[in-house]
Amino acid sequence: MRLTFRGLGIFFALKVALNISRAIILKKSHHSLVLGGRLSEERPLEAKVYQTREFAKLLGISKTHLLRLENEGRVPPARRVQRGKVEHRFYTVDDIHLYRDRLDLPPLLDRKRVQLFLNFKGGTGKSSISSSYAYGLAELGLQVLAIDLDPQQHMTKCLGFDPSLDIMSLFEVLIEGENINQAIQPTTMPTLDLLPATLRLSIIESRLLNKDMREFLLKSAIDDIQKDYDVIIIDALPTISLLNKNAVIAAGDLLVPVLADYLSYDGLGLLFHELSRMEKNFSVHPEHERRGLFENIFIFVNQFKSNEIIARENLASLQRHYTDYLTTTKIPYNTKISQATAMGMPVLQYDPSCRGSKCIRQLINEVFGFER
Ligand SMILES: Nc1ncnc2c1ncn2[C@@H]1O[C@H](COP(=O)(O)OP(=O)(O)OP(=O)(O)O)[C@@H](O)[C@H]1O
Ligand SMILES: [Mg+2]
Repeated sequence: MRLTFRGLGIFFALKVALNISRAIILKKSHHSLVLGGRLSEERPLEAKVYQTREFAKLLGISKTHLLRLENEGRVPPARRVQRGKVEHRFYTVDDIHLYRDRLDLPPLLDRKRVQLFLNFKGGTGKSSISSSYAYGLAELGLQVLAIDLDPQQHMTKCLGFDPSLDIMSLFEVLIEGENINQAIQPTTMPTLDLLPATLRLSIIESRLLNKDMREFLLKSAIDDIQKDYDVIIIDALPTISLLNKNAVIAAGDLLVPVLADYLSYDGLGLLFHELSRMEKNFSVHPEHERRGLFENIFIFVNQFKSNEIIARENLASLQRHYTDYLTTTKIPYNTKISQATAMGMPVLQYDPSCRGSKCIRQLINEVFGFER
């Protein structure tokens, strides 16, 4: 998909939104995403389990249909756990593949995807939404790798990982030549792995400068592990940097979270300008010559406040000027998302049925064309 520009230089009505009401709730929650053996002790282990209706929906059938298949012995019976006098049925993420095989269902994806969450503007939701989005894909049974590029380690923290531990990041892989597999950490969600960020990434720029093929190092590292993952999700930094350029080259799809305010709109212009400059520079490479930098571009509005006139006006401007790229899904402003961030877990786990979680699932469906 080639980058086109419409409406650069057209401005929104100026609005400075002081967002001082972000609730940070630090009370303990029984929900928690957890990473294999490396999580902070305060967060209890809890792997994702599915209730009957949710699991049936994942398979694209009704609850009654699933129960019938189980009674007929065409699929294994649900797992069971006794709580008090009541026996509860449940399924795990491992069951998804087993049941899909038994029912002869086609794979969810026709090809592997590498998706980059990028916006040079800070605080638009790259880390919080990308980590929940990665978790949401893993919930579907897809094998997912989340890669954190940012030394702020927000994606790493949003996925419940303790960044103070002595672990590897892309620094060791891209600069010191370590095998990427050594840096990948499993999580207790069997279908979700994480390549965490560490503070060392803050000095990666100067070290990348001296490397041959310096913009292509991440792509080449990812090529080595692509076979192990259905989807790789990359959370970028809010900067124009060599590391981000590496991510642009490595990714097939671009996802841009944007706020419905003037500064975000202005930032979009800068982002597209920089990307089109890169596209020209790298058009000598056959893959990029063929399809441009990205196969797909999705801009989605985050933290949308539908009750604000200014937000609705800004949304209308985005719809006019970025028609080809703007998703119909909007993520609302939802305090559950900021609470989940404070708790170090994806909102999909913190509160699976809140509006924020529903919209992130809807975004996944729109991006992948899933009919669910
Ligand atoms: N839809 C939302 N509703 C409420 N809060 C949100 C929403 N999306 C993101 N936030 C909160 O906004 C803050 C900034 O989000 P986040 O860190 O994900 O942005 P970012 O783009 O990754 O920032 P940076 O550019 O610094 O990397 C976080 O506290 C996050 O919890
Ligand atoms: Mg971030």
